[in-house]
Amino acid sequence: MPNLIEKNLSQAIMQRRATPSFDGAAIPDGALEKILNAGLNAPSGYNLQPWRFVVVRSAEQKRRLRAACYNQAKVEEASVMVVACGDADGWRKGDLEEMLELGREGGMPENYAEQAKVNIPNYLSNHPNLPMWLNRQVMIAFTTMMLMAEVLGYDTAPMEGFEADKVSEVLKLPLSYHVVALLGIGHLKGSDKFYGGRFSTARMVFDEEYGRPLKL
Ligand SMILES: Cc1cc2nc3c(=O)[nH]c(=O)nc-3n(C[C@H](O)[C@H](O)[C@H](O)COP(=O)(O)O)c2cc1C
Repeated sequence: MPNLIEKNLSQAIMQRRATPSFDGAAIPDGALEKILNAGLNAPSGYNLQPWRFVVVRSAEQKRRLRAACYNQAKVEEASVMVVACGDADGWRKGDLEEMLELGREGGMPENYAEQAKVNIPNYLSNHPNLPMWLNRQVMIAFTTMMLMAEVLGYDTAPMEGFEADKVSEVLKLPLSYHVVALLGIGHLKGSDKFYGGRFSTARMVFDEEYGRPLKL
């Protein structure tokens, strides 16, 4: 069993690499729970939490999932594959009510709750691009899980190389579910990937308006 050292967030961010290959060693349930909970604590628009996650650990199901992911070997090698989805109908099927209930427990003002009951169905039933809205929310939870896994000393692999219809079939997902991304979690096998480098702040970040590079 590899010796896992908890890292701070800065170390996890800077040392993280998209893991090329996993050794398959298991992850304790307690660590997995911590990783999943981190994601479930992410922020979302109106706190609607439209994300859903399928945890795949059995050899048989990982093999099927691999076939839906262009045969990428790490799907089968990872200790855990977390399939991150967004549910386009969650808000219609209880999420809105539960969000308001939880909010009220935490002190949500009643006039906010009354407004939200009207505004949220208006907003989402007329949304021009619900898959985009789901992606925006789900990727925050996904990234939070990825970073928590790295903080705990595990290795991760984010993946968009999959065929959504095949993943949905393997996991028996309801029609309202959109597959957003897959996260492999486990222990690195062999050497890590090279560092691909990142674009500079001067080129990527603007000061006050487009075109003025931020100088710090
Ligand atoms: C949303 C997303 C999807 C990705 N999908 C795949 C994938 O399907 N297969 C793969 O080998 N790498 C995948 N990657 C890994 C990227 O290639 C990798 O993150 C990038 O090259 C930067 O390398 P680094 O993460 O090691 O810094 C994905 C990364 C992200 C963020």
